[in-house]
This record gives sequence, C-alpha cells and structure tokens, in this order.
Amino acid sequence: MLDASRRWRRDGKSIGLVPTMGALHEGHMSLVHKARKENDVVVVSVFVNPIQFGPNEDLDRYPRDWARDLKMLEGAQVDAVYRPAADEMYPPDASTRVHVGGVTDGLEGAARPRHFEGVATVVTKLLAAVDPDRAYFGQKDAQQVAVVKRLVRDLDVGVEVRVVPTVREADGLALSSRNVYLSPEERKAAAVISAALREAADIYASGERDPVRLRAHLAARLALEPLVQTEYAELVDAATFQKPGTLAVIAARVGKTRLIDNHDLEKPFPG
Ligand code: PAJ
Repeated sequence: MLDASRRWRRDGKSIGLVPTMGALHEGHMSLVHKARKENDVVVVSVFVNPIQFGPNEDLDRYPRDWARDLKMLEGAQVDAVYRPAADEMYPPDASTRVHVGGVTDGLEGAARPRHFEGVATVVTKLLAAVDPDRAYFGQKDAQQVAVVKRLVRDLDVGVEVRVVPTVREADGLALSSRNVYLSPEERKAAAVISAALREAADIYASGERDPVRLRAHLAARLALEPLVQTEYAELVDAATFQKPGTLAVIAARVGKTRLIDNHDLEKPFPG
C-alpha cells in the first residue's frame, strides 16, 4: 500500500483515504464521493477492526459482503481498495496501542471500554500505510471525529481530516451497517432517535438555551417509544465531548441493537 502511495505522490497526485469496515451503504458512499471530488486518487480501506470491538459486542456477526462492497467501490471510480488481513494488521506480538485522552472519557468511551483505543490505533496504522493528503469521516460518529482530530493534531500527522454530514433514511434514521439487525417493528421505532434530535433543534431555534431542559426534552421524547431504551442523551461540546455544549448526542438500544446519532443544535435538522 505504501509503495503505491509513494508512486502516486512522486507523480504529484493528491490522495484521499476513506476508512471503513465494509458493509457499505450510502453513508459510506457519500464520503467516497466527497473524496472523489477533492483528490486525484481515492483509496478506500475495508477492514473490520477486531480491537475496537468489546468482548460482548458484534464482531462475529458484523455484516460482511466483500463482493457487494467491491462492486459499489468500482462504480464510484475508486482507485484502490486497501483490505489488509487481521493477522497482517495485528501479528501476535503487536504490542502498541494509541490512547487518546480526555475526549474519550465519556459517552461512547465510557460505554465501550477500549473502543476508541482500537479506533485510534487502526486509524494511525491506516494513515501510515496510505499516507493520504485528506482522510474522510462521517459526522454520524461524532465522538470518533473528535478522537481522530485530536490524534492527528497531537501526533503531528500531516493529514487534513474532512467531516461529511450524516446520510439519513426518509424517516430520519441515520444509515448504519447495524440497521440490518433491526426487525420491521424495531426499524419503525428507531425513528424516534432522529425525531428527538429534530425536535431539540426546533426548540433550540425557538430560543431555548438551557442544556438541562434541552436534555430533558431528548430523554422525554425517547421515553415515549417503548421499544427504545436510552443509554445516554446529552449535550456536549463537539471538540472536547465535555458538558455542556450544543452537540446533542444519543445512544439507544432498539431490541439488542445499539444505535447512535447526533445533531449540532446550532444547525437546522435536515429534511
Ligand atoms: P464504519 O462504521 O464502517 O464507518 C466508516 C465511515 O463511514 C465512518 O467515518 C462513519 O462515520 C461513516 N458513516 C457511517 N454511517 C454514516 C452515515 N449514515 N452518514 C455519513 N457517514 C457515515 O467508523 C468506522 O467504520 C470505523 O470506526 C473506522 C473509522 C473505519 C476504524 O475502524
């Protein structure tokens, strides 16, 4: 991968990297399209990163469809797909992990111990292997964006982190590879998550600034849907992930499926 990257670079080409775990959907593809517009060469990595999954998480049943992924990436004029094997990424004696402090303390970091260490480690490795000018991440995973931006700054990685808006279904549900786990009833109920974010944005737009009341509204709206169990609903700062702030973030379980979503209340909710 690094040899190919160095050849492109020698030829004066700019390189965009889109890191993914495969099971591609239109959310991923919007990152790819953005990268296609902004770079001479687009590399997409497809790697289900074992070290970012907890022991009781869905690593084994995480959806994988390499033939379909490749077809979608060919259709989007991607120049290269980087698809390392797990034992190549993590040989048995690999003993280095990247820990980003502070911004990983709460929310996803608290709910998923060592998750962000796994993300930061694999993103560091992907950036080292591809050496892109720009790397693309989705706003859907807002805390991941904060972690990657902090890591890139703290470790002097010369890459521009580009953030792409969340792609949603018609009813507002954020596209996610995990949505395939939802039963038809759960799928319907899951729309409450984006509905709560939309209503909070409306209330904010009408002048409400009290984070306690905005947060209470999120929680109350989510509680109206019996199939949805809220894990957290908070208002945090988008860069530090400390309270308070204007980024509304939600994690909820719909049946056995854990979903996350977020929206910056300073912006109108799309659609
Ligand atoms: P994955 O969940 O496959 O997501 C890959 C990228 O697509 C992430 O940047 C994610 O935020 C973005 N994405 C997912 N759903 C989206 C949506 N509905 N709209 C916009 N963007 C969306 O995130 C990961 O993989 C991994 O943690 C990774 C960064 C690849 C490291 O292993």
